[in-house]
Amino acid sequence: MKLQNHSLQLKGKSFLPIFAGGMGVNISTAELALVASDLGAIGHISDAMIQQVSDKLYQTNYSKLKQKKHRLSLLCEDKSQVKFDLEHLYNSQRVHVERTMNRKKGDGLIFLNIMERLTMGAPSDTLKTRLTAALDAGIDGVTLSAGLHLGTLGLIKEHPRFNDTLIGIIVSSVRALRAFLKSASRHSRLPDYIIVEGPLAGGHLGFGDDWEKFDLNTIVREVSNYLSEASLSIPIIAAGGIFSGEDALKSISFGASGVQIATRLTVTKESGLPEHVKQEYFKANKSDLVVNNLSPSGYLMRMLKSSPCLESNVRPACEAFGYMLSREGKCAYIDSFKAANPDWKSRNKVQDKMCLCHHFSKCTCYTCGENVYRLKDKAKQGSDGIYELPDARDVFMDYLS
Ligand SMILES: Cc1cc2nc3c(=O)[nH]c(=O)nc-3n(C[C@H](O)[C@H](O)[C@H](O)COP(=O)(O)O)c2cc1C
Repeated sequence: MKLQNHSLQLKGKSFLPIFAGGMGVNISTAELALVASDLGAIGHISDAMIQQVSDKLYQTNYSKLKQKKHRLSLLCEDKSQVKFDLEHLYNSQRVHVERTMNRKKGDGLIFLNIMERLTMGAPSDTLKTRLTAALDAGIDGVTLSAGLHLGTLGLIKEHPRFNDTLIGIIVSSVRALRAFLKSASRHSRLPDYIIVEGPLAGGHLGFGDDWEKFDLNTIVREVSNYLSEASLSIPIIAAGGIFSGEDALKSISFGASGVQIATRLTVTKESGLPEHVKQEYFKANKSDLVVNNLSPSGYLMRMLKSSPCLESNVRPACEAFGYMLSREGKCAYIDSFKAANPDWKSRNKVQDKMCLCHHFSKCTCYTCGENVYRLKDKAKQGSDGIYELPDARDVFMDYLS
């Protein structure tokens, strides 16, 4: 049986069983999500660094305004006063989601990937603002990622679309799922889907240094068994290393109802990565990959060793950005930068962390899934050595047929 003969049921409706994964910062573009929804599948946009995305796409100037307001703190490590203007944040999110939803034509759905780890100097307020704006703007669903999200549902439970909007969570273990379900039961709002992300995924990983010991389909089976024992019927979406329709069918045989893919979409025409980075992904070999703890989020991340962020020495870019700041104005990169540059002026290389905001804004962190080195097997290479970019539609069809 082929993948196209399977259907995924969400809130009583049928969809093609493929999610295009959320990829910040605007790598999962509206264009990419729209291809998925046109086909009757699920596309994601991402709200990572949404003000910067809005400035780029819709000619706003939120980042500049924020930097101007907080310019005095540029000269020191104390970022406790650097805060987001919640009205700006709301507007940037609302416009991005609204404009994307207005272009939707197909029978599929468009979801928003929301990372809890983007604490933005005021974790609850900024998360609530981002969620509220997305729900107000008519998003079909929100996928809660990069965090346990134990308080997230409470932030939107009064919203009129709380029960209509699909809500999903990304987990990498039964333990994390159990904790989320406990918090969800307090709001009588179970998730509509559960994305189980294994250790071969791109972006941040929900595993420790022993990530190699874990296997996606084993976790899918554990989650499936756990849900059966709890008499819960919630679709499981398997993610991380699903490179083909056969891989997807294998995960389905372990208890998944669909799959989420990302790395294969990074090199499509519709992906937001710059052309030269797409070529880096095509050229990559297995030995070019590294999983490290450079991200100040505290999560491991997989990336190419050619990523310029491995040589990070920029001054923390919190005034314009500040997406990783804690409530107290702390970020692990600030500490590392200070250790390497005690005078705050020099530019010695920072060994153990990178400025996530700076490097994601410049696309200089080449994060990808473990299967990135196989992308070239699916692509045509010109006589000049340049790989041809596939249409996203063709990538989806390759999984389905
Ligand atoms: C370039 C890239 C960026 C990603 N960014 C995010 C993100 O911002 N938030 C998130 O929850 N997952 C992120 N992911 C994870 C994907 O959404 C997806 O679950 C995973 O990569 C699927 O595995 P695959 O890449 O092997 O197909 C990212 C993945 C890639 C490749």
